[in-house]
Amino acid sequence: TSTPTEPRPAAGEHRVARGLAGVVVDTTAVSHVDPASNSLLYRGYPVQELARDCAVEEVAWLLWHGELPDPAELEGLAHLERSERFLSPLVEATVDALPRSAHPMDVLRTAVSVIGSEDAGRDSSAEADLARSVRLFAQLPTVVARDRRRRLGLGPVPPRDDLDHAANLLWMTFGEAPDPVVHDAFQVSMVLYAEHSFNASTFTARVVTSTLSDLYSSVVAAIGALKGPLHGGANEAVMETLAEIGSAAGTEEWLERALGERRKIMGFGHRVYKHGDSRVPTMREALDRLVEHTGRQDLLERYEALERGMTARTGILPNLDYPAGPAYHLMGFETETFTPLFAVSRIMGWTAHVLEQRADNALIRPLSEYVGPGERHR
Ligand code: ACO
Repeated sequence: TSTPTEPRPAAGEHRVARGLAGVVVDTTAVSHVDPASNSLLYRGYPVQELARDCAVEEVAWLLWHGELPDPAELEGLAHLERSERFLSPLVEATVDALPRSAHPMDVLRTAVSVIGSEDAGRDSSAEADLARSVRLFAQLPTVVARDRRRRLGLGPVPPRDDLDHAANLLWMTFGEAPDPVVHDAFQVSMVLYAEHSFNASTFTARVVTSTLSDLYSSVVAAIGALKGPLHGGANEAVMETLAEIGSAAGTEEWLERALGERRKIMGFGHRVYKHGDSRVPTMREALDRLVEHTGRQDLLERYEALERGMTARTGILPNLDYPAGPAYHLMGFETETFTPLFAVSRIMGWTAHVLEQRADNALIRPLSEYVGPGERHR
């Protein structure tokens, strides 16, 4: 079988680029991924600097508007975001009515559909879409936290308007004032996960927007794309792998068997970065701080053993999901909540791309090379 990176021989007039590997489908000013220099820039700013210096709200503004906010703009966004955090009674009732066995990404996808169905506005101006973007940025954490608590048989913890975006999510999740080490690590993860050019879920959002559909439909589709284990679902799979390995001593044997069975090792490899994911070192530093804070050296030993073994055997390097999975675990989140946490971060990038796509739209409609039977008749 051909891999996505090998162009299939064209049976007819077209060159086939499976998985769109290596295909440049449009321009973007939102972010720049340069695998050669191993850099990721949001609107020109290195993501490592943003993760070190900025609150999530500042990064959201940057992605939506193209510039970092001045103090008055930041204050305005913070005020608006805090006022939008509560869910409507219908969204609350819908989340509560879904089976507890539903994957949290299915709950999130359904909740965004309901939020969209309550927005009767037909205004598709940039201003109206920006207001919708802020609403989803504000409400996705409330959905994720509410859903997590109901699964655990706990009552919801309402949002607090005296807490910043990251702190409020942690408050609604755990019902306690967030520990500063956890808050900082969580904020770093949100900034690193916020945006990554034409990744599968963002591209999905742009495809839906390109038909002039609405912003909520684009985000519902993006959530569906993010759920898969080859994309956002990998952060959950990393934690499952580390649990399956059990101890650092068992890593080599486990890895030999897994690679022998041609299993994909989750949290390793990337379509664009072939020499290492630019976001990993910053997330790894946050993971180290969490390990020190919680005393969970055992987890770090397994993490390092798998990374060493994988790199030595295959040369394939970790992606952001590799340090993010165990970091979320040490913050106290259950594994099934990890991909929704990716979504509450990537909502910034998705919506920035929806705004960009709409501002200068071209319908996205590629061609395919037909390889089925020639014309025939019954
Ligand atoms: N484990 C084992 N082998 C791997 C892995 C992996 N994680 N990643 C790539 N390979 C191997 C493939 O088996 C293939 O080998 P082959 O040529 O012998 O068949 C070769 O490397 C090329 O891999 P492809 O899957 O063709 O490359 P692609 O660019 O499509 O892969 C992908 C990118 C899908 C991310 C892949 O590396 C993968 O499946 N990784 C695991 C899932 C994962 O971590 N996803 C998260 C992505 S990043 C994010 O969402 C933040």
